[in-house]
Amino acid sequence: MASTAAAIDLQSIGLTFASRTGVPVVALKDVSCRFEPGKVTALIGPSGCGKSTLLQIARGFLAPGEGRLRYLAADGGESARPPEMATVWQSFNLFPWRTILDNVAFGLEMIGVPRAEREARARQALARVDLAGFEDKFPRQLSGGMRQRVGLARALVMKPDVLLLDEPFGALDAQTRLVLQEQLAKLVEESGTTALLVTHSIEEAILLGDKIFVMTARPGRIAAEIAVDLPRPRSLATTHDPRYGELFDRIYGLLRDEVVRAMANDRETG
Ligand SMILES: Nc1ncnc2c1ncn2[C@@H]1O[C@H](COP(=O)(O)OP(=O)(O)OP(=O)(O)O)[C@@H](O)[C@H]1O
Ligand SMILES: [Mg+2]
Repeated sequence: MASTAAAIDLQSIGLTFASRTGVPVVALKDVSCRFEPGKVTALIGPSGCGKSTLLQIARGFLAPGEGRLRYLAADGGESARPPEMATVWQSFNLFPWRTILDNVAFGLEMIGVPRAEREARARQALARVDLAGFEDKFPRQLSGGMRQRVGLARALVMKPDVLLLDEPFGALDAQTRLVLQEQLAKLVEESGTTALLVTHSIEEAILLGDKIFVMTARPGRIAAEIAVDLPRPRSLATTHDPRYGELFDRIYGLLRDEVVRAMANDRETG
């Protein structure tokens, strides 16, 4: 929440994976970036450049081989403990045997929130993503877009200080995606959560981000840090703003070269 908004600071992060072929994969090299409190930071880069890896490092799930990860409190000092974090993945990861309400309430159940309270909070979270009335349904009865909104509600219900989104809308059709992007922008603005959004979509990065880090092909480095100086609330109409076009062209120019490099990498490493 805004009062406890946390920043994540990554300095000179490097990570190399062992691989089946024995040739180590340098996933990240000398990556320094900061995810500011209460802001949305988008990470965009070619496939395999290490975006998800960086997210896992920020989450504290993967230890970097080199460099330093720090969580900062609102006053800029280092936090003694990590902030509360929640992740939304591209695959919906819902429990098929649980109702929508119980899926959303699951995280609260894990931390021992009493039933009445967790159900009330889950209902509220579902209402925020326009899914009131679907509490008793099962995941298979919902469309892909609705299931992804359940995934979002499941993260929001935890009132995280930091929301991590790894291509949350990647599997959805373009129209559903647009609607969800607008909803997500609104939710993040209202909650004041620090958000980190991994995306392949330049449009999504601009519509949602306060700042965009463009990454290079593997080994992933930061190619550019771009501030998105477009007014909020943003919507489809924003894409007609000349400033939007300028930002889009700049990011596309940076990415194009990197995508070509990534394709060459793939050919080499199979
Ligand atoms: N556990 C692992 N063991 C070995 N190699 C890994 C592991 N996880 C990731 N990699 C490799 O590290 C590189 C970065 O992977 P990562 O998933 O972070 O990329 P990404 O930018 O998220 O890609 P995408 O856009 O396709 O999701 C890739 O080459 C990947 O194959
Ligand atoms: Mg990924």
